[in-house]
Amino acid sequence: MIYNLSLIAILTFVPLLPDSAWALDFESDIQPILKKKCFKCHSGPKAKKGLRWDKKEVVAEWIKEGTDSVIVPGSPVKSLMFIKTSQGRQNHPDGMPPLRRGTPLSEGELKLVAKWITEGAKVTSSEEDDSTVKMKKEDEVKIYDWTNLSGQTIKAGFVRLEDKSVVLRLESGKDTTYPMGKLSVESRELAKKLAEGK
Ligand code: HEC
Repeated sequence: MIYNLSLIAILTFVPLLPDSAWALDFESDIQPILKKKCFKCHSGPKAKKGLRWDKKEVVAEWIKEGTDSVIVPGSPVKSLMFIKTSQGRQNHPDGMPPLRRGTPLSEGELKLVAKWITEGAKVTSSEEDDSTVKMKKEDEVKIYDWTNLSGQTIKAGFVRLEDKSVVLRLESGKDTTYPMGKLSVESRELAKKLAEGK
């Protein structure tokens, strides 16, 4: 494909963005743009081409090397996501959103998309990556049912007792501190037993 000048101009601008020291986050920086301008046709089970911008797991499936790939990490000019949205700004018939069917991305929005792809198009935040890795490698804990005084039950691992609270590890891998006084009698006993057993 022949790249036109405005595309090149946008790309050479990317490293000069004032906030370029910050890595972009898909959920907070990119998804809101897509929500405004693309969700109408690209969200939910009826999304065009199955391309759902509303679901991170689906977006992740569209990230791969190769021509005609929607997102090629590190290379906006090879990514249909960038090619089509920049064409959309030039009233090109292949652009996204389609001609007269939506509002094209602003120049700033397009730059953010380009920057996100240049940075490797990560859909998960590094924090999430860390906790998943931690969970798998060393901190795998046995899961118990915990009931509180209102009768609600959650599944979580036991980490430790802390003052008058118990620290539980949720299935997401995150730890939460819960007051012992709000747990059911059985769950309180369980926490004490597990703490002694450690
Ligand atoms: C009015 C509906 C509509 C809107 C709004 C829209 N799209 Fe699309 N999109 C489509 C349709 C229809 C197709 C399938 C076109 C085809 O197969 O030729 C498509 C296809 C695509 C493709 C190509 C997928 C592939 O594998 O070929 C990409 C990338 C894309 N859209 C991105 C976007 C982005 C990004 C936005 C928001 C800026 C957007 N679209 C907004 C209707 C829309």
